[in-house]
Amino acid sequence: MLHCCLTGAAYETAVITIPKIHNTEGHCLPGRNAGSAQYRMNTNQNQPSETPLFIEKLVHGGQGLGHLAEGKIALVTGALPGETVLLRVTQRKQGYVEGLVRDIVAAAPERISPACPYYADCGGCNLQHADLAAQLRMKTAIVAECLTRAGLNTVSELAALPAPEAFGSRHRLRLHLDAAGRPGFFQRASKRLVPVQRCLLASAGINRALAGLATSAKLCSWFAGRVQELEFAECPESGRVVLVLYARKTLNAGARKEVALRFAREPCADCILWRPNVVLYQRDGAVPVLHQHFVHSGLEYRLSWPAGTFFQANTSLNGQLVALVLEAVRECQPQTVLDLFCGSGNFSVPFGLAGFQVTGVEWAKASVQWAENNARQNGLRHFSFLVGDVNRKLEQLVTRGQRFDCVVLDPPRTGLGKATALLPKLAPRRIVSISCDPATHARDLGLLLAVGYRLERLTVVDMFPQTHHIESVAVLNR
Ligand SMILES: C[S@@+](CC[C@H](N)C(=O)[O-])C[C@H]1O[C@@H](n2cnc3c(N)ncnc32)[C@H](O)[C@@H]1O
Repeated sequence: MLHCCLTGAAYETAVITIPKIHNTEGHCLPGRNAGSAQYRMNTNQNQPSETPLFIEKLVHGGQGLGHLAEGKIALVTGALPGETVLLRVTQRKQGYVEGLVRDIVAAAPERISPACPYYADCGGCNLQHADLAAQLRMKTAIVAECLTRAGLNTVSELAALPAPEAFGSRHRLRLHLDAAGRPGFFQRASKRLVPVQRCLLASAGINRALAGLATSAKLCSWFAGRVQELEFAECPESGRVVLVLYARKTLNAGARKEVALRFAREPCADCILWRPNVVLYQRDGAVPVLHQHFVHSGLEYRLSWPAGTFFQANTSLNGQLVALVLEAVRECQPQTVLDLFCGSGNFSVPFGLAGFQVTGVEWAKASVQWAENNARQNGLRHFSFLVGDVNRKLEQLVTRGQRFDCVVLDPPRTGLGKATALLPKLAPRRIVSISCDPATHARDLGLLLAVGYRLERLTVVDMFPQTHHIESVAVLNR
């Protein structure tokens, strides 16, 4: 059986040229993916296959799946459902092979030219070769398949919430640094870093800051060996950009002074932080706190959060995500709502404003402090935020015999797992489950269905356009 989360192994790299695309008559298709861009690939076992391979579907991870003549599954990077390709095998695993498109015999109508000049090499995103509507269709099909595989054929149709923009929607972007201190993303299925000077997925402000940093030989050489990762965050309200530098070592006073001077000469962002909380540079007193103003569902409010803590990266679609979740909560007319994995109050604050008594649970102290701030700043008086591991806090709530009319959960990719079994003990009549991984989501939903909940509806939200990542919101009733 094919698992949802097949991952690539470490690759030895060599360069091959991306093939020209041919239609069934063998003519080159202009304006598609053909050209001089290059993929890097494993030199081991890279056997070109002359047998055309039909791509049946996209799997979680973004590869196209086909069946080889001998019955083995082939997972093909860069291939789209409905296409016929010639395959170059890069890895042989037990039961399946992985490979790259060597040539396209028949291209899918959804295939487009990737807009990003780094796309063929960079692993930062992997669906740019399909148009946005097709990406969402493929993601929805993957969710449907994960549900089916988990035995949850209870929703006949899945809803979908499209991304408003194909590019420029990320207001938070994390990059690694190479040995020369240049920022970039890892190559697909590799630890080799591809240096980039811009990322089409990121907001305009982040791209200005990234270009300033990446083209400064002095800044990059100072970063080399000192800084492992960078995170840019653009404030959706002011457009100011905060840069957070992540390093294993602490900075002594001399080094801080030195880097502060460098940034003052080349201020690539409005505020620069050495994690956790050392401010190295501030333009015009800019502080490392970000804000967003929301108007939806008859509510108006403002949220603030510090750079370096979690906040939904796609700020333009986040308002719609929150509205969707709030509507699902409102429908069950709750008095009490438990918001698990609450971050800095992205859902808790609108829940409170909608008149529900909210309890939030989150283990990042800084986020909880800002959740409380946000609640207060928006005029809420009755709220409770618990700092700690959701698994532990759930056990405590159950032991105390607490009850909630509705539970909302928004865990990281790993999902809630075993602790899902504790939710029915809080007696919620509705559970709204938000997830960024369809496989763990299907697993957790399966646990809830097994204890008597019904899956009412599920919406796929395209929070991560151009990438294989999939956000989904499930609504369950008892
Ligand atoms: C996907 S984010 C969602 C945050 C929030 N709901 C939002 O929309 O901004 C997951 C959050 O869960 C927190 N988290 C992850 N694992 C946790 C755990 N075991 N216990 C408590 N919080 C956890 C993270 O710090 C993060 O804030």
